[in-house]
Amino acid sequence: MRNNDINASPVWARLHQHQRATRHLHMRELFEQDPDRFERFHLELDGLMLDYSKNRITDRTLELLVELAHTADLAGWMARLKGGERINVSEHRAVLHTALRAPKGKPVWLEGHDVSADVHAVLERMTAFCHRVRGGEWRGFTGKPVTDVVNLGIGGSDLGPLAVTEALGAYASANVRVHYVSNVDGQHLARTLKRLDPETTLFVVASKSFTTPETLLNAQAARDWFLKSASEADIARHFVAVSCNAAAVAAFGIDTANMFEFWDWVGGRYSTWSAVGLSVMLAIGPDHFQDFLAGGHAMDEHFFGAPFEANMPVILALLGVWYNTFYGAHTHAIMPYDHGLRRFPAHIQQLDMESNGKRVGRFGERLDFDTGPVIWGEVGVNSQHAFFQLLHQGTRLVPSDFIVPMNSHFPVDEQHAVLVANGFAQTEALMRGKTEAEALAELSGLPGETIDMLLPQKLFPGNQPSNTLAIAKLTPYSLGMLLALYEHKVFVQGVIWGINSFDQWGVEYGKQLAARILPQLSESAPCLHHDASTNGLIQFFRSHHER
Ligand code: F6P
Repeated sequence: MRNNDINASPVWARLHQHQRATRHLHMRELFEQDPDRFERFHLELDGLMLDYSKNRITDRTLELLVELAHTADLAGWMARLKGGERINVSEHRAVLHTALRAPKGKPVWLEGHDVSADVHAVLERMTAFCHRVRGGEWRGFTGKPVTDVVNLGIGGSDLGPLAVTEALGAYASANVRVHYVSNVDGQHLARTLKRLDPETTLFVVASKSFTTPETLLNAQAARDWFLKSASEADIARHFVAVSCNAAAVAAFGIDTANMFEFWDWVGGRYSTWSAVGLSVMLAIGPDHFQDFLAGGHAMDEHFFGAPFEANMPVILALLGVWYNTFYGAHTHAIMPYDHGLRRFPAHIQQLDMESNGKRVGRFGERLDFDTGPVIWGEVGVNSQHAFFQLLHQGTRLVPSDFIVPMNSHFPVDEQHAVLVANGFAQTEALMRGKTEAEALAELSGLPGETIDMLLPQKLFPGNQPSNTLAIAKLTPYSLGMLLALYEHKVFVQGVIWGINSFDQWGVEYGKQLAARILPQLSESAPCLHHDASTNGLIQFFRSHHER
């Protein structure tokens, strides 16, 4: 399990050479020369199609990238992941989120213990609970059924379930509305609670560690709000917890009989499939949640079974490595052409950047190359009217993913066709650009001086790479496939770069400093503890904060 010194490998050097030799190639010409390019560079699985033909690659590029994957011992790392080895070495933990979506009766072993049986026991408890809540059998302290669920969590205990709940809005119950509150900024909770009734509100406090201050403060504030109308004895009907830390749940005052468990081998940003998905299940119902798990499992089977050349997560990951490491692209954009997927880029941002935003390898060795990119994005077509100018005519290489469902759950006249046409058109425009001859033709008839001024502004260089993930329909199953696809992509990239994608030490330091600053905000002696900037900011707060 030692570092593979990937950047000292011959294939690494060959990829650099290959990039220098092929970077002048234009995708427009590659398509013109090769009518089979789409045929060769797309993959399909259960109604999900990855078109990766609009990338700056040749067959040789893919050969070299696959060789890179072999050099990094990707197959070995996949086997370690699947086999429950403690590959999260800095925390000495196994990484088994794939077990969360394994079908019942299919054992998943962690050091001789079948964790799949534990997973299904919790799923059964979640299912029974959801039936009671959604069926109106679970009653609040005045005997009324639950109408609103508030998920209190942050990071992986918020973004994943939030993104999935939003995406599957078409499957949501009309009787139970699910809200997500994450920010310690009090307005997030206050503005949500303003619309709710304590008699009919259920809080799901989701925190793997149950020590995250933001979540505990929000849970405490929710509890105070609730206790203005009810008594301590009523808390059990209105607060449930999702956590790995039963002792902290009990210490907080939630009966552990109302706790849904998960385990330390589930990373926070990989936890939507676990009990952290309770709020999703409350929104869409247990059967749809099972379909979501089944979609994730289908992608797992594909990932662990398909050869690298025909393996969606592996291909997506290798393309990302190609641009990030060998082209020096710093970012990767995600544009879902589905309004329900509007929080999906934010979830993938955490998934990817918290996993691979690292400068040292899994054994602490310094990495002398670029690793995880900045992930960002926004739904189409809104993104077109916001930042696509830079993608088309700016100076940066910005690889991107377009996620486009072929059918809408909410058809309004011909609007879905307009949406899809826009998504496809953007990938075409980014790829082919607009040539001088094409731009000139549009300007014909104008005075020469005007043409001279306008022509450079009407040119589109093109050659901007994109993947399209075309989905027959955004269902729980296809969303499960999509999410698992990105999880495995991130894993593969971590393997290539030699990173432990499952810890997150980088978020700790800010937490430590915030804990130090907090009491200083209310001290009266001049603040001299920090650098001049931080001292100045603290002084500014003290003089402007209205107590
Ligand atoms: O801030 C980082 C982090 O640890 C994430 O990795 C995690 O998803 C989030 O905080 C929330 O943690 P918890 O579920 O333990 O409250």
